Amino acid sequence: TWTMGNVIEEQVAEIRERVGTKRAICGLSGGVDSAVAAALVQKAVGTQLTCVYVDHGLMRKGETEQVEKDFVAATGVQLKVVDAEERFLTALAGVSDPEQKRKIIGREFIRVFEQAQAEIVAEGEDVAFLVQGTLYPDVVESGGGAGTANIKSHHNVGGLPDDIEFELVEPLRALFKDEVRMVGQELGLPEEIVQRQPFPGPGLGIRIVGEVTKDRLDLLREADAIAREELTAAGLDRDIWQCPVVLLADVRSVGVQGDGRTYGHPIVLRPVSSEDAMTADWTRMPYDVLARISTRITNEVDEVNRVVLDVTSKPPGTIEWE
Ligand code: XMP
Repeated sequence: TWTMGNVIEEQVAEIRERVGTKRAICGLSGGVDSAVAAALVQKAVGTQLTCVYVDHGLMRKGETEQVEKDFVAATGVQLKVVDAEERFLTALAGVSDPEQKRKIIGREFIRVFEQAQAEIVAEGEDVAFLVQGTLYPDVVESGGGAGTANIKSHHNVGGLPDDIEFELVEPLRALFKDEVRMVGQELGLPEEIVQRQPFPGPGLGIRIVGEVTKDRLDLLREADAIAREELTAAGLDRDIWQCPVVLLADVRSVGVQGDGRTYGHPIVLRPVSSEDAMTADWTRMPYDVLARISTRITNEVDEVNRVVLDVTSKPPGTIEWE
């Protein structure tokens, strides 16, 4: 639109002026904010920007490819992908406790990200800027006014490394989420990235109740892809805030499929309606859409013989199960 066009012009000019001939780094999470921030900086300074994407193996189906192919195709951005799946799965082996999982994923993420940053810094003399997708609500939430660099740590992709000094570039500091989406659209980013619903940093690692393994992740990825496909086909993406799909890996129940008894795992659907994720209500979704998702998941995903619906508000339940 006209207004977002102005925002882009203004930001591009400002970024050009600030960055000059130096280089910048941006961590991509697969989410909207970091993608739009990176695209803006790319538009301003081109190959002076390098993006880093840590593939922790906990992403949903197709998400890494969207960043690797579609985002790069749309922006021409210089991208460094770090394949860290094995590292994360090894670190998570044998761990079922949710808080422990979160700590391990957070810790490994910072290590991998810092290592990639250090490599880029070592390659180029003038890496002076770190691009972040901080939004206006983040700025307000952290008690900072415009112009301050006080950001809650969970909003940083991996946090700032101790031994490398960067100046922050935060081109989205004045914008709300819907405006960021408009800017992204205006910049020609793929619809799948611009309209993406919130997804937790620890990814599917906190949507498997029980130990996280490659097999379980693959299984959950299939179930999640089916749910997302059907929700999109039913036109419900804008009505639903997000719909976590959870694998109860430590639970089994008896079923009957084909001509025999099965003893498989349940999949939980957790569609929620919310304004800001602080509180949420379970979404009264059309039964026929639920039925399609259930039928497809039990038919198409091995070892899943039951689909259940989470009908808990937040509070008392959180949106995610872990
Ligand atoms: P809960 O489960 O606390 O989730 O009701 C609230 C919102 O936050 C998302 N979420 C996270 N996002 N890193 C993130 O970037 C995290 O560790 C994380 N944990 C939860 C969740 O998807 C929901 O939108």
